[in-house]
Amino acid sequence: MRVYLDNSATTPVAAEVLEAMLPYFAEEAGNAQSVHSFGQRARAAIEQARRQVADLINAREAEVVFVSGGTEADNLAIRGIAQAHRERGRHIITSQIEHPAVLATCEALERSGFSVTYCAVSHLGLVSVEDVRACIRDDTILISIMQANNETGAIQPIEEIARAVTEARSRGLEHIHFHTDAVQAAGKIPVDVKRMGVDLLSLSAHKIHGPKGVGALYIRKGTRLAKLLYGGRHERDRRAGTENVPGIVGMGRAAEMARAQLSDRMERMGRLRDHFERQVMSRIPNVKINGDPDTKIPFLRRVPNISNLSFQGIEGESLLIALDLKGVAASTGSACASGSLEPSHVLRACKLTEEEVRGSMRFSLSAYTTHEEIDYAVDMLEETIARLRQITPSEPVVRQRVRFRPSSFVL
Ligand SMILES: Cc1ncc(COP(=O)(O)O)c(C=O)c1O
Repeated sequence: MRVYLDNSATTPVAAEVLEAMLPYFAEEAGNAQSVHSFGQRARAAIEQARRQVADLINAREAEVVFVSGGTEADNLAIRGIAQAHRERGRHIITSQIEHPAVLATCEALERSGFSVTYCAVSHLGLVSVEDVRACIRDDTILISIMQANNETGAIQPIEEIARAVTEARSRGLEHIHFHTDAVQAAGKIPVDVKRMGVDLLSLSAHKIHGPKGVGALYIRKGTRLAKLLYGGRHERDRRAGTENVPGIVGMGRAAEMARAQLSDRMERMGRLRDHFERQVMSRIPNVKINGDPDTKIPFLRRVPNISNLSFQGIEGESLLIALDLKGVAASTGSACASGSLEPSHVLRACKLTEEEVRGSMRFSLSAYTTHEEIDYAVDMLEETIARLRQITPSEPVVRQRVRFRPSSFVL
């Protein structure tokens, strides 16, 4: 059996999404800028997708700009605001647990004269509204706090932070903008830009059963933003470059399905994730749930599809490889895509011990994960942990605490 529990890294494209995309690779391959009917049909398809994405987040169509993915959406939001408002101030507030698409962008801005405050988080992985409020300065132009974390699934208090931003604006700091990275929240919990009170919000298609290489940035009407790319006047002059029509059509269909099925998906994924955690906790000794373990108030502080666990006395990388050999795919905060051996900056920011970080594993479900798959994964996990614990020394190797350095990351 092959069980894919790495859906926070990426999800398979849904059959309906693929079907919607296919015509736009060949028979409907017009350039959406062309005047002829091929171009017009491509344009109409993009505008339909824009409606579908806008509906998912309760935005207006004109507020949605298609980009190449979550990374570009984050870059456009942060660099776009920094560049356009640098005369008003050069201070940015973010958190220590952001995705590198945000952290590395902020670091680059620090090198060009901006100052960035990286807010700490609680042991549950939550940013404190009070901390954010206390960090606001006269020269703050941007606050960027993610809606849900990609490693622990922790849901941040976005509405409360937006209220702090509104308060600051009413004190005369009108130039503060509020961005949230909703890449891991969309399709998992409600995302409503009006209710949340954000100015900018990032989305990525491949996390919601859409294609890779396409995303969107919500830009609240009236927000002044510099461009990243210069060229044609595509996307209402917000983002130059011939539109990725099949990708955008796929993102639109994926967004439409995510919206229509949101409550079903939340209920289903939450139930399976809780079943997974209950089984693991009752069958495997010395396991800790990272993030909010409380499932009595489901989904309040953790997205329903993520389970991040630390297995005492286990090296995450050995577990990852051993599970892969049994057909179970997950991911670990102790390894990363870039091959660095720096452990997860997110789990360290949550004040886990070095051993807990090294023994951590993220299991992430999708709308299509089945009960049988979860049961198989638990069986394999139980067997593998028992075997690894027999062959590895029970005394954890004491390592020095490593400084916060966002050089490694979980996708
Ligand atoms: C929270 C978060 N933001 C941004 C991204 C980047 O999105 P993309 O892969 O579309 O560039 C990811 C992907 O891992 C993510 O989890």
